[in-house]
Amino acid sequence: MGIFETFVALAFIAAIQVGFNIAYLLFMKRAVRRPWNVKIDSNYRPQITIIVPTYNEAEVIEMKLQNLNLLKYPEDKLEVIVVDSASTDGTLDVCRQWLTRNSFRFKIILLSEPIRISKLHALNYALKHANGEIIVVTDADAILVPDILVKAIPYLADPDVGAISGRENIVNASACFVAKMENAYRDIYYMLRLGESKIHSTQIFQGEFAAYKRSLLEFFTEAPGRSDDNGAVTEILRKGKRCLLVPEAVFYDAVACNLIDYLKVKIRRATHLQREFLIRFKLWVKGELKIPKFILLANVYQHFANPLIFMFSIPLALYFLIELSKILPLLSILLILAITIVSIVARHLIALYIISNFILIVAFIRTLILSKRQEWEAVRSSRRYLKVCRQKLDTYENQEPIRFAKSP
Ligand code: GDD
Ligand code: MN
Repeated sequence: MGIFETFVALAFIAAIQVGFNIAYLLFMKRAVRRPWNVKIDSNYRPQITIIVPTYNEAEVIEMKLQNLNLLKYPEDKLEVIVVDSASTDGTLDVCRQWLTRNSFRFKIILLSEPIRISKLHALNYALKHANGEIIVVTDADAILVPDILVKAIPYLADPDVGAISGRENIVNASACFVAKMENAYRDIYYMLRLGESKIHSTQIFQGEFAAYKRSLLEFFTEAPGRSDDNGAVTEILRKGKRCLLVPEAVFYDAVACNLIDYLKVKIRRATHLQREFLIRFKLWVKGELKIPKFILLANVYQHFANPLIFMFSIPLALYFLIELSKILPLLSILLILAITIVSIVARHLIALYIISNFILIVAFIRTLILSKRQEWEAVRSSRRYLKVCRQKLDTYENQEPIRFAKSP
């Protein structure tokens, strides 16, 4: 291919990539302003079961119990189940000790699985003991704002709404480059998911806080590569109900600053998501998923086509620069300079774009050639940043009603 053809191909790719992504972003930015079209009943107080799955969470579980104890909700209408899968760090002992030292306001059940199979398996075990009409699943390393239930559950009063998820705030958002980048991603993610929710349903849930109607979700589908949160979204969408991101349902968690740890978590999540989108796409083709098709197709594009086109464009761009430097060295130097300046000025966004596509490509290869069983490896390095939350919770307990700030 000659230099001119390469240039045309690159311009074409850039136009598709940038054009499509920006168009979807702008469209969703407008959709965010739409009304909800949901019958929100602020007095709706159904029976709730909160499930906290744990595997080696001794470091954060006390903080999690302290956090749950602060939740605003009628005491007789909320139960908590901590379900542990053979942790080796004494997570359940830490729970028991904490419970003898503190008075927990709600009914609490501690369940223990003899061996670790998976988070999904643990959740299904807990569901057998759950009495709630609403099932909330929340990770041990996520901190919920105390009014999350009274603010978010009212959305479930609408019979068309099957499940809700929340809005993530990163506690260590400015701690390091990786966290800043993830924070930039979260801002974009939030707008897309909120826009999708206003139109019909968000395509991605957050396992850190998700609430489901039990009548629509008897059990979580336990299959290799499936995740609880997005697997449940697929089931609920299939039943014709909406899945919403509720902006008031705020929770906090931390991001690993170590790039390897960050990539591990993101690749695992991306692998799960890709599998879910494939399942949804197949259901949609068979006419079993009635959601606005452009939302589904845009997500399929972003999670599959986008990274593949991006991967294809890298050698093309390098080839173009090398060829250009042979015939117009000055122009190629200017071009490299311009790229460098843009990369420095918009470094978080550029890094985000490159790393996100890289993550999706690795996830895609894993899905294609590696074993279907994905071992869930917890990333510890992010959890230490949650100490900030611990301090916040202590303050909150001592001098109510201090609220969580947007970025602690
Ligand atoms: N009981 C039990 N058994 N719990 C487990 C197991 C297990 O085998 N494996 C993990 N967990 C628990 C963890 O202790 C934690 O409380 C929760 O499940 C989530 O694990 P993390 O390691 O914190 O996952 P994450 O933060 O990377 O991913 C979260 O977000 C994803 C995207 O929304 C999870 O909620 C995922 O389920 C979710 O897909
Ligand atoms: Mn987590």
